[in-house]
Amino acid sequence: CPCNVPHLQIVNLLRKWSLSISGQDKIKAEECIACLKEKMQTVTLIPGDGIGPEISTAVMKIFEAAQAPIQWEERNVTAIKGPGGKWVIPPDAKESMDRNKMGLKGPLKTPIAAGHPSMNLLLRKTFDLYSNVRPCVSIEGYKTPYTDVNLVTIRENTEGEYSGIEHVIVDGVVQSIKLITEQASQRIAEYAFEYARNNKRTSVTAVHKANIMRMSDGLFLRKCREAAERNKDIKFTEMYLDTVCLNMVQDPTQFDILVMPNLYGDILSDLCAGLIGGLGVTPSGNIGTNGVAIFESVHGTAPDIAGKDMANPTALLLSAVMMLRHMGLHDHAKRIETACFDTIRDKKVLTGDLGGKSKCSEFTEAICQRVRDL
Ligand SMILES: NC(=O)c1ccc[n+]([C@@H]2O[C@H](COP(=O)([O-])OP(=O)(O)OC[C@H]3O[C@@H](n4cnc5c(N)ncnc54)[C@H](O)[C@@H]3O)[C@@H](O)[C@H]2O)c1
Repeated sequence: CPCNVPHLQIVNLLRKWSLSISGQDKIKAEECIACLKEKMQTVTLIPGDGIGPEISTAVMKIFEAAQAPIQWEERNVTAIKGPGGKWVIPPDAKESMDRNKMGLKGPLKTPIAAGHPSMNLLLRKTFDLYSNVRPCVSIEGYKTPYTDVNLVTIRENTEGEYSGIEHVIVDGVVQSIKLITEQASQRIAEYAFEYARNNKRTSVTAVHKANIMRMSDGLFLRKCREAAERNKDIKFTEMYLDTVCLNMVQDPTQFDILVMPNLYGDILSDLCAGLIGGLGVTPSGNIGTNGVAIFESVHGTAPDIAGKDMANPTALLLSAVMMLRHMGLHDHAKRIETACFDTIRDKKVLTGDLGGKSKCSEFTEAICQRVRDL
């Protein structure tokens, strides 16, 4: 686009506008949305370390087979010292993300005693990635104690107990501050409802402990309630964190979207990933300000199998599928997701962690074949 406004933002604006119009104008707006969505878009690809390059190659091959309208711009990220000795990500990676707004990231190793913060943390801070979204959907053919799980955790990613404000008051007594702000609570609550609407989901549950932390969780909850008032088309409920845990292990199918502060989200999102088979099959997305979003697999670099063509690319592929949905490319997302799930359900070509004997490249080729046939 000559004015450099990302297509996704224009599509979202058009979509909102089209809700208020009818007749020929509405038909024209919908044609325009479809046309914009078909235009090729550039995504920054951070392959990452360890198995990262192998699973990134797998995703690129599957996207090519599906003729998804995405072109990749590869960037490596390592922490470098910027002006004033501050740790930053390399300028070419930052510039690429600032321009493309959309990123897909493989796992990054956290070097011990390297003296710099984790790259994941640095990326989160650089692009103000305030929301971590994890859809947890049961995969047919991959047996776990639960079936029909279909929920999404939305975690506030910037504050709460993880604001990093800790100090010693006197010897033997330390204090850690839980920081909750109106602004961060409001934007995560609003995002949860927006996500529900864009993904045809029907209910949002706010997870909290406002009975104990009356001021901090109380503020978070109040902002969720206010967002619910503005989004009356989506059902809203609120539940104590402990009650959510109890109900989750008894019957996870009762939940749809769960929105919560940082610490609760960190724990609950891993618990929910466990319900569908673990981090190896769970996609994730980080939503930031100014339209920036980075989608990533949540597993690590798997150094024990790196370079051996043994890695399972499912988590990164499903994160890329999530990215397509975020960009409004629902048809391509559905085709790739179906090809992936059908391959797993078929059980003939599976990587070791999924119970099979196939290589990463063979599993990838099986998905490519299915995506071409769909
Ligand atoms: N999001 C991230 O970038 C991220 C997340 C977690 C860990 N890490 C980093 O990764 C490195 C290794 O961490 P770790 O060993 O604790 O966890 P890990 O997730 O890399 O590995 C744990 C186990 O799971 C297996 N595994 C993980 N992903 C797999 C896949 N896609 N296919 C098949 N098997 C898979 C590994 O082979 C290993 O046996 C560390 O440097 C850590 O800091 C990065």
